[in-house]
Amino acid sequence: MKTLTHFLTAAAIGAAGVASAATAATTAATAAAAPGQTLAQRGAYLAKVGDCIACHSAPGKPAFAGGLPIDSGHGIIYSTNITPDKVHGIGSYTEQQFADAVRKGVRADGTHLYPAMPYTSYAKVSDQDIAALYAYFQSGVKASPYAPPESKMGFPFNQRWGMAFWNFFFADGKPFKPQPGWSPQVRNGAYLVEGLAHCSTCHTPRGFALNEKASNSGEAKFLAGGELNGWPVPSLRALPRWDQAAIVDYLQTGRNKNSAVAGEMTAVVQHSTSQMTVADLNDIAAYLKALPPAPASGAAVKPQGRDATVKKLSAAVNLTLGERLYLDNCSACHFVTGKGASRVFPELDGATVVNAENPTALLHVMLAGARTPSTDKAPSVLVMPGFGKRLSDSEAAALATFVRQGWGNTAGAVSEKDVAKVRAKLEAK
Ligand code: HEC
Ligand code: HEC
Ligand code: HEC
Repeated sequence: MKTLTHFLTAAAIGAAGVASAATAATTAATAAAAPGQTLAQRGAYLAKVGDCIACHSAPGKPAFAGGLPIDSGHGIIYSTNITPDKVHGIGSYTEQQFADAVRKGVRADGTHLYPAMPYTSYAKVSDQDIAALYAYFQSGVKASPYAPPESKMGFPFNQRWGMAFWNFFFADGKPFKPQPGWSPQVRNGAYLVEGLAHCSTCHTPRGFALNEKASNSGEAKFLAGGELNGWPVPSLRALPRWDQAAIVDYLQTGRNKNSAVAGEMTAVVQHSTSQMTVADLNDIAAYLKALPPAPASGAAVKPQGRDATVKKLSAAVNLTLGERLYLDNCSACHFVTGKGASRVFPELDGATVVNAENPTALLHVMLAGARTPSTDKAPSVLVMPGFGKRLSDSEAAALATFVRQGWGNTAGAVSEKDVAKVRAKLEAK
């Protein structure tokens, strides 16, 4: 099951206000179809950029036939069938009805969709791209008569009209607006990231009603990082650790010279970014590099220093518990330098996941392991084994604390309680 962070609270539903729907997005589309490409072929590509398959397909069910349960925190929402089946799918939708569902979250019958469907981002999709997506979902996708289960939301969230209020407060519904001074490349990158690729649904912090705190590049909080079920999601603003080529590499292959993808980003790379053209990925990377960086959060602790850590681990005398456990369990792959090996074992020194304020993701990877997706450009799968069975809570805490404070890392200590919490969550799965 997917867990949803994009969501609403009773405060939003209960608020009085005037029903409103977002205004239609009409902008000049950027990247044009490749020569010789039909509208439906262009639409098939755009469906990958928008990652429609991630939510609209359930394991064992036909592609795009829906039925994936999404836990909203207020009940289960099932994605719908968006194949061209006339009864259970969207085969009878006109292009305008399709556009309103995708960009405004309004169904053909006038009812409102839950923002589990990222229509707040899709509002920025151009008319031209909507036309291509419509052509694909009408003629390029196989119709399926599968009827997904009905969503089971508790009161008041089962009252779909309440979504009109949420939209009134939180969905700005504005079309894409390029900023003055952007090169055509940055402009296309921004168009994709703000809109169809909906990167902000995970990478922008959320407010009290789980609304995104910013919806476009002009706002400092846009893409400034957030949290997904306790897993820290890094800021994408400027990505100071990486140059443009390293960003493209990461999005295309799930790995680059000093990192490897883990957590929810794994599926994003697998189904969406690894399928994008190099030109679009370059535009996305150019755009992310052009964003002013997020203000640095003050370092939590003084780093031990790279040389000091490497010396201590190499000498292997008077080691702390954390250092000894690192040598025994981790150094074979991540090395005493914490630098790993380019494109094979990610760097732990300076890694976002290691230095995040919240240690959940680091502990998750340590206890359960991780694997990169197999992509066209990098078919081999890199596997990090899980150490949940080998390490007790106190050992895992000592080891994680060492990793977070060794080399140049500056994150806070990890407690046994932190470990126990992550372990309980993993066991519940
Ligand atoms: C993050 C998950 C997610 C992604 C990505 C996503 N959808 Fe959805 N979509 C949903 C959910 C969930 C619903 C049903 C919401 C509800 O029942 O209120 C939905 C509903 C819809 C509907 C309304 C169908 C109806 O019954 O009227 C359409 C059309 C649609 N999506 C098209 C798309 C397209 C096209 C894409 C890709 C560009 C896409 N969706 C990507 C989650 C998603
Ligand atoms: C479903 C949620 C989700 C979506 C959508 C998403 N990301 Fe991510 N992203 C994550 C998470 C979680 C991580 C942390 C991965 C880790 O810990 O290894 C991440 C990590 C990254 C990183 C690595 C940054 C670093 O400093 O390590 C980049 C780059 C990135 N995402 C780019 C994107 C782009 C571009 C998009 C849109 C095309 C996108 N993401 C959409 C969840 C998401
Ligand atoms: C057999 C080799 C191997 C061993 C031993 C190993 N790792 Fe890994 N580690 C990997 C690989 C491969 C990845 C990349 C997998 C991925 O992220 O999908 C990885 C990923 C990670 C990540 C995520 C990095 C990122 O940027 O997202 C962390 C953190 C990590 N390892 C910590 C550890 C710790 C701590 C230990 C010791 C308990 C350890 N590893 C032992 C191979 C190993």
